[in-house]
Amino acid sequence: MIVFDSKEQLRAEIKALKVKNKRIGFVPTMGALHNGHLSLVEAGFKKTDVIVVSVFVNPTQFDNTEDLKKYPRTLEQDIILLETVSKNIIVYAPTVEDIYSNNVVSESFSFDGLEYEMEGKFRDGHFNGVGTIVKSLLEIVTPEYAFFGEKDFQQLQIIKKLVEKHKIPVKIIGCKIHRETNGLAMSSRNIRLTKEHKIEAPFIYKILKEAKLKFGTKSANKVTEWVTKEFEKNNLLNLEYFIIADTKTLKTVKRKHNKNTYRAFIAVYAGKIRLIDNIALN
Ligand code: PAJ
Repeated sequence: MIVFDSKEQLRAEIKALKVKNKRIGFVPTMGALHNGHLSLVEAGFKKTDVIVVSVFVNPTQFDNTEDLKKYPRTLEQDIILLETVSKNIIVYAPTVEDIYSNNVVSESFSFDGLEYEMEGKFRDGHFNGVGTIVKSLLEIVTPEYAFFGEKDFQQLQIIKKLVEKHKIPVKIIGCKIHRETNGLAMSSRNIRLTKEHKIEAPFIYKILKEAKLKFGTKSANKVTEWVTKEFEKNNLLNLEYFIIADTKTLKTVKRKHNKNTYRAFIAVYAGKIRLIDNIALN
């Protein structure tokens, strides 16, 4: 496995691979890798020969400095984990300077309104930070395909919009949410959960599944009220939002239409740790 910390070295390697007609796939991450990340790498190898995995905790997408400071950084372990998948992986773990030079700021994007919903409301500037880093990384890696998890469904839709609007020549592939056997969506933040919160956290997916069942016969409002009440009864998990939204526009559903598809989105605090999840409803 090759590990680069500079974009010049990475560019040279990719150029050499392309001369040999190797197809390049890309999985951007912030590290602290788990099986959810590995499932993206595995999806990548179904379509391409070499996968570049970037490991970079991107400062401009954090609205909370404590979250940025405490974000787990486990590069050595990440490399060992990736080696179990394939040798044809290139890790790009740049420094902040390599990406941002001396100017650690976001570009300002319009994602046609997708950026104002859900995470956009609760995490100020988050999607400008995500757009900035993903655009830079796609320009450095120049992959044929890039793989993103539905775990961050809004991010996935925003990246598709970014690529379309900026005419970046890459195909964006969305991959299913990988869960623990107890249903909890895998996340790099899960290792920061206390024992108590870890035991309680599968409640989130349990509620999502029940909400999906209820959505078959009840209105979005009724389901949302029910979910809110269930969380009021829970002493360990604090609901930040539960929203049923149109899959394409991500706008909150007012009235159901048979031709539209909907998804439920949730953000919950387990102590200081913020967890997000979502589920397709129809
Ligand atoms: P990170 O949270 O490390 O996630 C990297 C990729 O893994 C994202 O596409 C995310 O949706 C996916 N992923 C995380 N958990 C998953 C799970 N349980 N199942 C399936 N996929 C999962 O998302 C980011 O980093 C950053 O915002 C990034 C895109 C790298 C830009 O900095």
